[in-house]
Amino acid sequence: MSSAETIVIAVGLPGSGKSTYFSKLGVNPISSDAIRLQLADDESDQTIHGRVFATVRYLLKQRLDLHRPITYIDATNLTPKERRPYLKIARERNCRMEALYFDVPLEICKARNAARGRQVPDAAMDQMSKKLIAPTTTEGFDHVEVVR
Ligand SMILES: Nc1ncnc2c1ncn2[C@@H]1O[C@H](COP(=O)(O)OP(=O)(O)OP(=O)(O)O)[C@@H](O)[C@H]1O
Ligand SMILES: [Mg+2]
Repeated sequence: MSSAETIVIAVGLPGSGKSTYFSKLGVNPISSDAIRLQLADDESDQTIHGRVFATVRYLLKQRLDLHRPITYIDATNLTPKERRPYLKIARERNCRMEALYFDVPLEICKARNAARGRQVPDAAMDQMSKKLIAPTTTEGFDHVEVVR
C-alpha cells in the first residue's frame, strides 16, 4: 500500500532555472529563499541555514498531514547529505519521492546568475558546482527527472 502523496525536490545550481520552472508550472513550492525572506527579511541570508531548513521540513510535514497530493521543494539540494532528510520523511510517511535535476552547465548558470537581480558570487558558484552530486534512484528516489 502506498499513499497518494508525492514529494518533488529540485536539485540544481543557482541560476539553473529552478524557480523559473516552478513558476511556469504554476505551482507553489516550499522555497528556501522565500523562507529566508520571511525569517530574516533577506532572501540571500546564508547565516540561518539550520532554521531555514528546519522550516522547510516543518512546512513539508504540515502539507503531508493535510494530504496535499504533491509538494515541491525549491532549494539547491546539491548533495545526498542535504537530500537525505526528505528521503527519510518520504520513507516514514510512505510517500513517493522524486528529484527534478536541473542539469545545466556551470557556465550557463553563471551567465544567467550575472544577468539577474540577486547574484550569487562567482566563487560561491564554483564551490557549489564542485559539491554537486546528481541524484539517483540508488540514493532512494523513485524517479529522477532531468531538466536541461
Ligand atoms: N530555461 C531557461 N532559459 C533561459 N533563461 C532561463 C531559463 N530558466 C531560467 N532562466 C533565467 O535564469 C535566471 C535564473 O533562473 P532562476 O532564478 O529560476 O534560477 P534558480 O535555479 O531558481 O536559482 P537560485 O538557486 O539562485 O534561486 C533568471 O533570470 C531566469 O529568467
Ligand atoms: Mg530560485
